[in-house]
Amino acid sequence: MLLKQNFSLKEYNTFGIDVVAASFVAIHSVEELQQILLKNNDSEKIMILGGGSNMLLTKDLDRLVVHNQIKGFEIVAEEKDHSIVAVGGGENWHEFVLMCVENDLGGVENLSLIPGTVGAAPIQNIGAYGVELKDVFERLEAVELSTGKVYTFDKTACQFGYRDSVFKRDLKGKFCITKVYFRLSKQQHQLNTSYGAIAQVLDDKNINSPSIKDISDAVIEIRQSKLPDPKVLGNSGSFFKNPEIPLAQFEDLQQRFPEIVHYSLPNGKVKVPAGWLIEQCGWKGKRIGNTGAYEKQALVLVNYGGATGEEVFLLAKEIAASVKSKFGITITPEVNVL
Ligand code: EPU
Repeated sequence: MLLKQNFSLKEYNTFGIDVVAASFVAIHSVEELQQILLKNNDSEKIMILGGGSNMLLTKDLDRLVVHNQIKGFEIVAEEKDHSIVAVGGGENWHEFVLMCVENDLGGVENLSLIPGTVGAAPIQNIGAYGVELKDVFERLEAVELSTGKVYTFDKTACQFGYRDSVFKRDLKGKFCITKVYFRLSKQQHQLNTSYGAIAQVLDDKNINSPSIKDISDAVIEIRQSKLPDPKVLGNSGSFFKNPEIPLAQFEDLQQRFPEIVHYSLPNGKVKVPAGWLIEQCGWKGKRIGNTGAYEKQALVLVNYGGATGEEVFLLAKEIAASVKSKFGITITPEVNVL
């Protein structure tokens, strides 16, 4: 393992922000991680990095950045209709999805083309087009940074919520997720085509009984048409979460904005897409300096090249303030701001 000092993270975060880590090391196994932890007695000074696709770096990091490159894809158990698949935390998420599609294993096809790694996916319970990671999640293994001990977390222990888990709250920064177990269907796939855009693409192609691959292809097509490719234009996907507001507040807003897009939730609250709110405030496609809100999806903030993390964060604050003043709704970042 090669420990590098004063290491630029520009190529390691999808926003493409150029900040420097005090030190940097790549790990390829649990044992390598444990060796690093043994040598470093201050676990607070360690940061685990996956694909760097859900973070905004606003300053140099006085920390040891550990890049999780633990690989592996293995079917570890077979049930009648399902396979249990164990995947290394450092695997690229989309490559994992493609592997499942190729092997006709169902459950993650709606999550095609989400940037990032398998180990990072449970932290924010990634989701898209009607499916969330928790729907196929079995358990995970994670190494505690302060002790080097390996723990297993089942679904309950992970406390999954909308773009949320215990690893974003009480256990934030305390574990490295080294392996994730998924429960995937091998027959009688429960395909989820309820999301309007997927149904539309399948309809356009005259596909009546879609395969897993058809759905994955449709999702890839939709994402490519709406979301910028981080290799071309730096970004971290949705910058904010979609806010949930009380019904009374929503009804009041609907009086003033009859066309407001919304989804009713089982808990009685109403979810309003942050992208719609931001667009209504005039931000869609607006560029300020080296940053801006993407022209095809206002929820995605982009780096046109050379933006600093501070610059992007300033824009995010301005956007949130304008949404607050026009709609009285507080929107909060979905990405980790460091
Ligand atoms: N909308 C606008 N203007 C915009 C963007 C969106 O009016 O600029 C409206 C759309 O017309 C639509 C609604 O807002 O009626 C929802 O938009 P979209 O379907 O694009 O989804 P989203 O709610 O903005 C969420 C996830 C995405 C995920 C998509 C698809 C969050 C924070 N984001 O976005 O996840 O891909 O649904 O399921 O929940 C991510 O987390 O990084 C991410 C990209």
